[in-house]
Amino acid sequence: MTKEYSITLLPGDGIGPEILSVTVEALKLIASQFNLKFNFQEALIGGSAIDTTGLPLPEETLTICKQSDAVLLAAIGGYKWDNLPRHQRPETGLLGIREGLELFANLRPATIFPQLIDASSLKREVIEGVDLMVVRELTGGIYFGKPKGIFETETGEKRGVNTMAYTTSEIDRIAKVAFETAQKRGGKLCSVDKANVLDVSQLWRDRVISMSEKYPDIELSHLYVDNAAMQLVRSPKQFDTIVTGNLFGDILSDIAAMLTGSIGMLPSASLGDGKPGLFEPVHGSAPDIAGQDKANPLAQILSGAMMLRYGLNEPDAASKLENAVFKVLDQGYRTGDIMSAGMTLVGCKAMGEALLTVISE
Ligand code: IPM
Ligand code: MG
Repeated sequence: MTKEYSITLLPGDGIGPEILSVTVEALKLIASQFNLKFNFQEALIGGSAIDTTGLPLPEETLTICKQSDAVLLAAIGGYKWDNLPRHQRPETGLLGIREGLELFANLRPATIFPQLIDASSLKREVIEGVDLMVVRELTGGIYFGKPKGIFETETGEKRGVNTMAYTTSEIDRIAKVAFETAQKRGGKLCSVDKANVLDVSQLWRDRVISMSEKYPDIELSHLYVDNAAMQLVRSPKQFDTIVTGNLFGDILSDIAAMLTGSIGMLPSASLGDGKPGLFEPVHGSAPDIAGQDKANPLAQILSGAMMLRYGLNEPDAASKLENAVFKVLDQGYRTGDIMSAGMTLVGCKAMGEALLTVISE
């Protein structure tokens, strides 16, 4: 029997629509091979939503997303909207959808493709074999803590405030995702905090330690965030799964991304408790190359694979898509961001065509 899934597509801004359309074609082909049917519907988010409705996350978009089985997002933002007030910025739409769908767990894998090792700014021996996963808390911490805002003090001076706060239940639920992720991977979990300075981090560490009693099979370690940043570039192979709060995870996942050489290759999954997950590339909307058929669609494709694996529980279809990416790299196809001597430079559409050919084989 054919399994049907309803998928909301959020093309967003910049290169978003180009990379998403290539991905949709690949998903359709995969679906036909695995007896699946995807019912796609599109909705607005980010700058394109601001231009049409005045808001970066129209109510209708959130409603459509909540009714679907999974959400596939491309990228948001661009110079045009950079100077709007915060509530109208594209980024606010992204934070809004994370909050609205209660996507508290963000999974950001950083896997080195052997074909792209020389694209990294780090030495081959440092990064060869790196395969790590950052589990970032996504709906709490300093991104959402209150009070927040720019206030006036008694002396008439301005004071900008954000609050880094975590409750025990928020820590426990992300720790659970992280321990379970580590169980499916290499069995090692490193929790990153700043417990030498921050009370919120002390609570984080205490809770992660008490949760660890339920996971005797997992080797748990702890690092302060400054040291973790250093270790990630010094010897990234020591890491398997990393769990950390929202802001630290934002920063560390960019570092992890760069180990692989190109942020254009990295997907992510944002998951809640039984709600539709959201799947998006780690990279942004690259407005400088938008509309020129130069974008690398592979992180978007791999986000589609994460959707199949983590959102729809279709691991075989996911593997097929991931293997196709591996094969087109083997065949030497490269977009500009991962191009090197002797390889075949292709645009976004041609990369998509190459993928379709490989998937059909
Ligand atoms: C990310 C981005 C976002 C974040 C921005 C665009 C709001 O940097 O997904 O890592 O800070 O979470
Ligand atoms: Mg970021």
